[in-house]
Amino acid sequence: MQDLSVIVLAAGRGTRMQSKLPKVLHKILGEPLLTYPLRLLSGLGVAKPIVVISGDAIGEQVKTAMAASFNIDWAIQSQALGTADAVAAGLKNFAGMSGRVLILCGDVPLLTAATLKNFYERHCQAQAKLSILTAVLDDGGGYGRVLIDKDGAPLEIVEARDATAEQLEIKRINSGTYIVDIDLLRAALAESGCDNAQGEYYLTDMVAFSRRQGAATAIYDVADSREILGINTRADLVLLEKYMSLRLAQYWLENGVTVRSPELVAIGPDVKIGPDTEICPGVSLLGETVIGEDCYVGAGVQIKNSTIADQVEIKPYSVLEDAQIGEQAMIGPFARIRPGSLIGAAARIGNFVETKKVNFGQGAKASHLAYIGDAEVGAGSNLGAGTITCNYDGFNKFKTVIGERVFVGSDSQLVAPVNLGDDVLVGAGSTITKNVAANSMVTTRTRQKEFAGKGMAWRRSANEDK
Ligand code: UD1
Ligand code: CA
Repeated sequence: MQDLSVIVLAAGRGTRMQSKLPKVLHKILGEPLLTYPLRLLSGLGVAKPIVVISGDAIGEQVKTAMAASFNIDWAIQSQALGTADAVAAGLKNFAGMSGRVLILCGDVPLLTAATLKNFYERHCQAQAKLSILTAVLDDGGGYGRVLIDKDGAPLEIVEARDATAEQLEIKRINSGTYIVDIDLLRAALAESGCDNAQGEYYLTDMVAFSRRQGAATAIYDVADSREILGINTRADLVLLEKYMSLRLAQYWLENGVTVRSPELVAIGPDVKIGPDTEICPGVSLLGETVIGEDCYVGAGVQIKNSTIADQVEIKPYSVLEDAQIGEQAMIGPFARIRPGSLIGAAARIGNFVETKKVNFGQGAKASHLAYIGDAEVGAGSNLGAGTITCNYDGFNKFKTVIGERVFVGSDSQLVAPVNLGDDVLVGAGSTITKNVAANSMVTTRTRQKEFAGKGMAWRRSANEDK
């Protein structure tokens, strides 16, 4: 399909979403809608699709959101005058070119590579000048209806809003995906008018035009009609997200991963998971997340843009973002691993522990109730319950450096900037404000005083005073 030019339409107003956000930036499994067709095209080896956006701030927003991840040739439609006008804007980018163009809608995320390949093959076999990807639905809803002749070739497409009651009964609908000869398309667009219910320039009018020209015009019905569903409303958005989610979960089930209650799991399209890993209900794995082999991801865990090595156990309800977890580490339950956390192999981060920007050494532990931020923790060190790195003075962040095999007793504060050398022992309940030399024992507690026989007597006299 590398020889096809491609235009993706994404300049529509998306009015039916009732949103400040452009429709194509609404997300499915954490990824903007428009990334789905773009991902599909890069998978098919299409080098640089043309994406039509609006010329205003909304278009700029779409451009900014896509620029980092995709190689795109942008085209501007100055006013949303309809799909024909949008394609005309895109066509300006290939002045003087001929050949074939594939036209896709930016709001149709479920289309698969297999379907597009079959569609293209059929188009070539039929030697068609125009092919329409169609589907047969029980209820055609708001889709354009495809009228066919006795040989099964399309005569025209009638938009739902322009259709007669009888035409609305037609079950074959237009997916908005076409392959068309560029010269035919140019001629069709030149003749396009807007005398219809919406006062828009309809791309769909090219079908009747093609027939009038006597050009070979074909349809191709998709096998699974869900693939061509478009998103116009928020209800469409969440429904299609569900379909996409089940499809991806199914993919992982077929590739060695146990996904329990797949209907309750969200796995993003760019996530990778190693074999024999188990994913529990309520898990969400999003962004550029990579999970190794033989991992366990417990119920309710949320992971975004993180890399998890092999044999890692992430216990329920932990939240990880922009983190790296070394092999055989154990995380959670209820851990919060924030951006910049590098957790070493076989390390343990227990319940109610928060980490941020930390290089947490191999085999090191923070098993309960701790905040470790802007820190280095050497291999084999143990941070007791309630350890806090005090990294912030209200203006700046400071670093805590903890050596190897350090033992920090429970409920200690390490006031940064501060360094603890290797093998240091910090007594429980200490507030460390100065650097500690290697192999020292340090404590900042006041000495314990004991008043024999005063236990009840002191409390009684305190009450009488009231
Ligand atoms: C369109 C088709 C309809 C088809 C349906 C499939 C037309 C006239 N109708 O209807 O037959 O069943 O798609 O989903 O083509 N866009 C622009 N600029 C515009 C208008 C739209 O770029 O001026 C883009 C939109 O961003 C969207 C796509 O074109 O990605 C389709 O537009 P939309 O308004 O959603 O068309 P539908 O009413 O869904
Ligand atoms: Ca649409």
